[in-house]
Amino acid sequence: MQSREIREKFLKFFEERGHTKIPSASLIPEGDKSVLFTTAGMQPLVPYLMGNEHPQGKRLVNIQKCVRTQDIEEVGDNTHDTFFEMLGNWSLGDYFKEEAIKWSFELLTSKEEGFGLDPKRLYITVFEGDENAPRDEEAFEIWKKYMPENRIYFMGAKSNWWSMGEDGPCGPDTEMFYDVTGKLGDMTKEEYMVADERQEVVEVWNDVFMEYLKKGGKVVGKLSQKNVDTGAGLERLTMALQGKNNIFETDLFAPLMGVTSSRIAADHIRTSVFMIADGVTPSNTDRGYILRRLLRRAYVSDKNIDPIVDAVINHPSYQGLYTFAPNTKEIIHDELAKFEKALSAGLKQVEKGADPFTLFTSYGLPLEIIKEVVPNLDEEKFKEEMKKHQELSRQSSSQKFSN
Ligand code: GLY
Repeated sequence: MQSREIREKFLKFFEERGHTKIPSASLIPEGDKSVLFTTAGMQPLVPYLMGNEHPQGKRLVNIQKCVRTQDIEEVGDNTHDTFFEMLGNWSLGDYFKEEAIKWSFELLTSKEEGFGLDPKRLYITVFEGDENAPRDEEAFEIWKKYMPENRIYFMGAKSNWWSMGEDGPCGPDTEMFYDVTGKLGDMTKEEYMVADERQEVVEVWNDVFMEYLKKGGKVVGKLSQKNVDTGAGLERLTMALQGKNNIFETDLFAPLMGVTSSRIAADHIRTSVFMIADGVTPSNTDRGYILRRLLRRAYVSDKNIDPIVDAVINHPSYQGLYTFAPNTKEIIHDELAKFEKALSAGLKQVEKGADPFTLFTSYGLPLEIIKEVVPNLDEEKFKEEMKKHQELSRQSSSQKFSN
């Protein structure tokens, strides 16, 4: 099943169950200064999860473009990317756990209406409870209608509590994982956790039961309504459905991997092209800085960037769905030409004996790039100097870079 068909099936499934399709919002969040990029389908819906009436009703479905860069160091493994499309459906104070779980299971496993995944390869996690909310016995009981009990695991808040940040709606979630090896069979919780660590199981769906409110990082009470917020990363779902053990072999990445051997370059250029489409340009602050870092990292991994840009812009899965900026290549070329200049000037200084740290202070190159271009870099010393430097020039906006 190609990614186009996966999107269509997903939308149809929920439209047939009374959900209204809403368009993807921009990657640049509107009116939310706390985050640099849209990181989840629920993000533009926060006012409605809090109780405002949505003009399209109480049941919504969409495919949202998302950027998350907190796992940027993991890109290159089997499942991490910095841009992804999130398939999501919402109940805004309408249905709750019973329907959400039933439909998740049906969509994942039904051969007629859904994706036809093998239920014997599914594993479920539910929230084990803590001081904020009780153990989710309700979700557990509902799951038992569809899944054998020994494949449902209770997990802590670290994995089974979802919130976007320090403030706003949040709640326990139930997550669905798929065995991408086809060999795992029944597993104890400990075995399952090892399989997760090894990326032998991959998260294909997440239902958040959003009924709590967080303020300043603490759960302070309940919302005025019970919501369902779901999220499925298209890339990971596609990987499961196409029988691959990594996202780079799916049809979403195949055209890119056909023109580069670098997973990092493929991922970062795809993200960059989508960012530029939504109006981001490289700069030294906030969003522009993230874009700059992505482009530089990509360039260090593969200098032949143009074919990757073309592969994104002409991608069969994006045709007719996303519009890209006509000056995408120009923006990237200008940025990389500047970078190339700074890089060679900086490297010359280092060759002449300058401390590699000048690459950071004078040329603005981040550590991950300096590591690539200066063999035998004393990383410990570098980090020490960086700490001192940062303490001196701590900016109020630095926190924003963490999203
Ligand atoms: N908001 C649900 C998720 O990100 O998985």
